[in-house]
Amino acid sequence: MGNLIAQTFSASWMALAILVGLMVYFQMSISDPAAKKRAVFKTFIGIVSCFFLFMAIVNYKTNFYGESRLLPVSLVTITVTTFVMALYFTNLSAMLKVGGFMFFVAAFLSGYGNWLPQVEGGFPPKEEKLDFSSMTSQQLADEGEKIIFGGIGKNKEQGAIGKGQCPLCHAFHAGMLGERAPNLAGLPERSEKERLADPKYSKGNPSKREYEQKEAFPGSGTAENGLEYIAESHACPSCYVVSGYGVKGTNDKQSPMPAIHKPPISLSLPELAAVDTWFYVREGRDAPSFEEIVKAYEKFIPEADRPKMAEDKPAGATSLMADGSEPIDQIFAKGQCVSCHTIPGIPGAMGTIGPKLEEGTSAPQRIKDPTYKGTAKSPAEYIMESIVDPSAYVVKPFPDNTMPKVFGQKLSAGALKKIVDYLSQVKAGAPPPKI
Ligand code: HEC
Ligand code: HEC
Repeated sequence: MGNLIAQTFSASWMALAILVGLMVYFQMSISDPAAKKRAVFKTFIGIVSCFFLFMAIVNYKTNFYGESRLLPVSLVTITVTTFVMALYFTNLSAMLKVGGFMFFVAAFLSGYGNWLPQVEGGFPPKEEKLDFSSMTSQQLADEGEKIIFGGIGKNKEQGAIGKGQCPLCHAFHAGMLGERAPNLAGLPERSEKERLADPKYSKGNPSKREYEQKEAFPGSGTAENGLEYIAESHACPSCYVVSGYGVKGTNDKQSPMPAIHKPPISLSLPELAAVDTWFYVREGRDAPSFEEIVKAYEKFIPEADRPKMAEDKPAGATSLMADGSEPIDQIFAKGQCVSCHTIPGIPGAMGTIGPKLEEGTSAPQRIKDPTYKGTAKSPAEYIMESIVDPSAYVVKPFPDNTMPKVFGQKLSAGALKKIVDYLSQVKAGAPPPKI
């Protein structure tokens, strides 16, 4: 359809030029006064027609790129104009009528193509595509805050969480508890001054590292500045593990943090740049430019591993972690349950921050426990309650308030049902249910 419109557009200009030429020709070739009067009248009609033509063209020009349904209006205007002229310029009538008819056909076709389907389908609001690369630091920081916490200004709200899922493990403000993961307050300064200077970090010498991974990928090297340290922490958590925060039993060699450019979190490079910008801006520091941050990530994430920015969903949309269409092992992964719990039968679920989930055996025991104050009457109800209201009963010896309280909002009813179904079948000493 675009092609047809473009052609009609240039044809209109040609028609305009020809018409003006014809009018001048008529004026000059007439000597009889009565005929001359008629010619003047015709010129007047001609000018009016030209005006319409011009309007039609302007309408085209302004609506050319949008999916505007005003486009066919131009063609209709041109059609009417040509037919009006055909009435007066009798000697050219045939030609004008043919021309007019052609425009009519064009109007019909473009009307059919542009207008009808839109009327039928309504006008969906135009999805705004976010271009992170052209934002100011503050705008980028706002997007970062949305990715981490789910909304602007939510960074101090208890339980606020966005698609980055960082608050599942991290605290972000000085003084807030950070048992599971380092508190990220003061990150930019600490990265530069403390982490890179730590002999265990082995700056410039990855082969000396004593961690599970020595480099993000072969040849990537180590970070040279604070910005690169942050990028490396996100892309390769087990390249350097902050002392005391490693997976239990690994002697701080392995980090429980998921690489955040990989599933299930899968942040794109622009989104990671937004997250990092927030770390700087919220502390009143000058943030590195978008390009500098992206370059830092490119050092640690090979091209093939860079997730594309989701175009259909605006960044930071507080979407569900799992909608329930996924297989059960993915639901556990997307909900990060695997980072804290060992779940028999689920690959990679080896966390030790919470209890091993053998609810077929444990759930009935919990309900019978005299200290149980929850409302569950059946194992299924107990499991559901543990997920949406973890403090209703706190499994000993684990601390309260460690299991996030967001899952009631972050998992669909379908996903929760799959979890409950699966966990209630897991029994101590028995083979795990099939996935
Ligand atoms: C499953 C828990 C978990 C999640 C989710 C998580 N982290 Fe971490 N993160 C950790 C742990 C534990 C450490 C400390 C061990 C290490 O150095 O890898 C850590 C370390 C870090 C560090 C290095 C901190 C320092 O002081 O050197 C940064 C930066 C960081 N995480 C950022 C993030 C961001 C940003 C997100 C969200 C996009 C995130 N993390 C999500 C657990 C998590
Ligand atoms: C940040 C770590 C963490 C994450 C993430 C986490 N949990 Fe927990 N969970 C815990 C801790 C700690 C406990 C024990 C304390 C308590 O009962 O609140 C627990 C308790 C539970 C219990 C009760 C277990 C029992 O034997 O009584 C269930 C069920 C459970 N979690 C399911 C889940 C599911 C499902 C997910 C993912 C959607 C999940 N947890 C994510 C830390 C976590």
